Amino acid sequence: MTKVISVSNQKGGVGKTTTAVNIAACLAAYEKKVLLIDADPQANATSGLNIRLSRASGVAHTVYDCLIDGSYTQTSIIPSEMENLYVLPASNDLVGIEVEIVDIENREYLFKTNITDIIKDDFDYIFIDTPPSLGLLTINALVASNSVIIPMQCEYYSLEGVSRLMQTIKIVKQKLNKDLEVEGVLFTMFDSRMNLTHQVVSEVKNYFGPKIYESMIPRNIKLPESSSFGKPIILYDINSKGATHYIELTKEFLKRVA
Ligand SMILES: Nc1ncnc2c1ncn2[C@@H]1O[C@H](COP(=O)(O)OP(=O)(O)O)[C@@H](O)[C@H]1O
Ligand SMILES: [Mg+2]
Repeated sequence: MTKVISVSNQKGGVGKTTTAVNIAACLAAYEKKVLLIDADPQANATSGLNIRLSRASGVAHTVYDCLIDGSYTQTSIIPSEMENLYVLPASNDLVGIEVEIVDIENREYLFKTNITDIIKDDFDYIFIDTPPSLGLLTINALVASNSVIIPMQCEYYSLEGVSRLMQTIKIVKQKLNKDLEVEGVLFTMFDSRMNLTHQVVSEVKNYFGPKIYESMIPRNIKLPESSSFGKPIILYDINSKGATHYIELTKEFLKRVA
């Protein structure tokens, strides 16, 4: 059974894209067939896996086209440089989608009917990298998903931000997708030397309990470096702390879903 997982947090810069790219790549290395769907107009997951959109490269269609017309979906999926890892890319035209679909009936279900339902059986895992907002695009991703991974940084107001996301998840569950679950909560850019970090972790643990992944991703310069080279961390520097911790996280993820 395919599992569809959104990586969400309406706050920008918390490690959504880094987590989506790297957990997807680690699962591919474990010989799972994985699709990463880039649902953020900033298209960082697309560039982070070195996918270049141009007529010359043969990559022409994106998530935007698929949302508008599901007949593009099969042919818009492209192999990444890594075996078993595929990408459905985004481009900047996704910026306008929320306004364009607002009057369509079933506007919350477009991602599900035009994308995931069509290609679901072709993959073991589908990850959706979502934009930093709780707009219609994120709602669409949540409606199309079985579960959500919530990356968060250990800062004072992190929990307040996440409570808005939890409210959205609750509403989606009640009205649009009753099976949606929280897959796990992941601390990113962790710095164990900071006292504040430990305080925030214990607060968040009170709130989420066992949903918190034991694996936490430390701050590691190799992670931004790897994405600027268009590679997942395990291809860029397998011995880095970033790689080690994303591999650990992936093992924990697999243990939980088993
Ligand atoms: N563990 C980490 N250590 C250091 N830098 C990181 C780490 N995780 C992410 N980053 C960097 O922080 C920035 C924001 O991360 P990103 O994954 O793009 O967040 P989001 O998708 O939530 O906006 C990026 O430049 C990314 O390379
Ligand atoms: Mg991002």
